[in-house]
Amino acid sequence: MKFKTIMLVLAYLFFFLSFAFPQDEQIVLDHKEIGIHQRPLSHLSHEKHAEIIDCNHCHHEYDENGNNIGEDGQSCSECHSQVESTENPVSLLKAFHILCKNCHEKRLSNGKTSGPVMCGQCHKRQ
Ligand code: HEC
Ligand code: HEC
Ligand code: HEC
Ligand code: HEC
Repeated sequence: MKFKTIMLVLAYLFFFLSFAFPQDEQIVLDHKEIGIHQRPLSHLSHEKHAEIIDCNHCHHEYDENGNNIGEDGQSCSECHSQVESTENPVSLLKAFHILCKNCHEKRLSNGKTSGPVMCGQCHKRQ
């Protein structure tokens, strides 16, 4: 009886901890601003990326001298809206494609570990 109780407590703890400390938190990128999605949604293994890339490489913000003063965690859509204009030269969709693909392509051509570069590798049916 006691043994069963302990096992149950352990099982609950394990279950809880697996949520509290996810091994690789995946963000599903699903921005309604872009419009109705034609493709399967793409995922970002945020933790894995954050371990090897500076936060403000992605969460950037530039001062008048071009210095990156980005804060952690600002949403892309705070600055990149979907409709391009002189104040908004990079649409939200382009912002994602350029940021994600350029890095993967560059690293691939430099022979480094990299991520997907083909449409179907990011827009993957689960
Ligand atoms: C490195 C990953 C990556 C690759 C490679 C990639 N995409 Fe995307 N794509 C994204 C992300 C991220 C978004 C933004 C999704 C969101 O936040 O809603 C997106 C959005 C889109 C959208 C708008 C949303 C939708 O589903 O209609 C289209 C269309 C699209 N991509 C087509 C393509 C095509 C075509 C290719 C190949 C030429 C491609 N993508 C390659 C990551 C990628
Ligand atoms: C490879 C690019 C990239 C890197 C590196 C990165 N992030 Fe993010 N982060 C994103 C994207 C994309 C989102 C989703 C933003 C959106 O929906 O507009 C996001 C979302 C977030 C959010 C919003 C909450 C959430 O989880 O949805 C926080 C907070 C955050 N990031 C913090 C950080 C911190 C802190 C670091 C560095 C330790 C970091 N990020 C590194 C791309 C990145
Ligand atoms: C605080 C505002 C701000 C936030 C938040 C922001 N950006 Fe930007 N981003 C800018 C500005 C300003 C530029 C420069 C635009 C220009 O070329 O004049 C830029 C440029 C870019 C470029 C173009 C780089 C090039 O080589 O042309 C990409 C791609 C991009 N952002 C993607 C993203 C993504 C993806 C996110 C979210 C993870 C994000 N940005 C968050 C303001 C922001
Ligand atoms: C500055 C470089 C850089 C940027 C920006 C970047 N990635 Fe990556 N990505 C990597 C590297 C490096 C790997 C390989 C990580 C590994 O396998 O250890 C990777 C792997 C991946 C993978 C496959 C493996 C996994 O971890 O799931 C996906 C999917 C992916 N990236 C999606 C994205 C998306 C979506 C974005 C844009 C929101 C993005 N990446 C932005 C460098 C980058």
